[in-house]
Amino acid sequence: MRDDVVPAVRAVYGEQDLSSAPAFGGGFINFGHWEGISLDRPLTAEDRVRSQRDLYRCVLGALDGADARGVEVGCGLGVGAVLAVEEFGFASVTGLDIHPEQVERARRANAGLLARAPERLGFACGAAERMPFGDGEFDRLYSVEAAQHFRDLAAFGREAARVLRPGGRLAVTSFFVPDGAEDAGVAGVGAELAARLDSFASGLDVAHPVTSLTGALDAVGLSDVRAESIGGHVWPGLDHFLSGIDQPVRWPRNFLPAYRDGLLDYYVVTARRPVEGG
Ligand SMILES: C[S@@+](CC[C@H](N)C(=O)[O-])C[C@H]1O[C@@H](n2cnc3c(N)ncnc32)[C@H](O)[C@@H]1O
Repeated sequence: MRDDVVPAVRAVYGEQDLSSAPAFGGGFINFGHWEGISLDRPLTAEDRVRSQRDLYRCVLGALDGADARGVEVGCGLGVGAVLAVEEFGFASVTGLDIHPEQVERARRANAGLLARAPERLGFACGAAERMPFGDGEFDRLYSVEAAQHFRDLAAFGREAARVLRPGGRLAVTSFFVPDGAEDAGVAGVGAELAARLDSFASGLDVAHPVTSLTGALDAVGLSDVRAESIGGHVWPGLDHFLSGIDQPVRWPRNFLPAYRDGLLDYYVVTARRPVEGG
């Protein structure tokens, strides 16, 4: 096991395949994008899988990746990487994940495409903060619900800028602390999130301000850095789904109140690497 995997990440993505827990499904492990899914009725396991696929579509749709060489950071089981190839026409996608067991699962889950078209799909083990790739190797970089686990967003920003070619583009979606959350009156947002949500208390998730990511991307010279809030399409649908299933723990339902209280939001952050001299 790599020595840069923090214990909570090692435990959560280790022996058990989290994507097969009732809260997730379909090989995905994300909270989902629920726009277009009716919340006026009980939600099904199929709705849940669609929401997770739609979160990928939201990110990939921001990237214009046809014929691009893509890298996905924190790819989990790699089913979103296959979506990028099959539905969005990426020439190739390399899925990167810090957890060796996730990389093994990704290789098993996508053995068919890996065998049929090995030039279009691949998986590698490594950290967002220290990517095992050469300079300018990719046209597009994306990441879905993994950046809340990254310890060092400045290092991620440096690596993202390094592995993207000039003119390359990036889209990252995850949950962050909104700008101005401290001013909204809750002193110590990190402590408050840890009190409400076990994933913050355990050190699995980090209470990064969204400005830590946008600032890191600005600092390495990426341009057009934007953060779009999509929390309204994530948390209400997720909570409605969770209300209808049996799950071993209650705390995930605290995400919706944390969003409503201004402690967390979900974002799509986009940027591009400027063309040199352009
Ligand atoms: C919540 S899962 C999301 C998986 C996938 N993107 C999805 O939406 O189904 C987060 C993934 O990020 C990986 N991860 C955590 N920290 C990482 C890091 N520093 N660098 C790369 N991957 C990381 C975990 O091992 C896990 O597979």
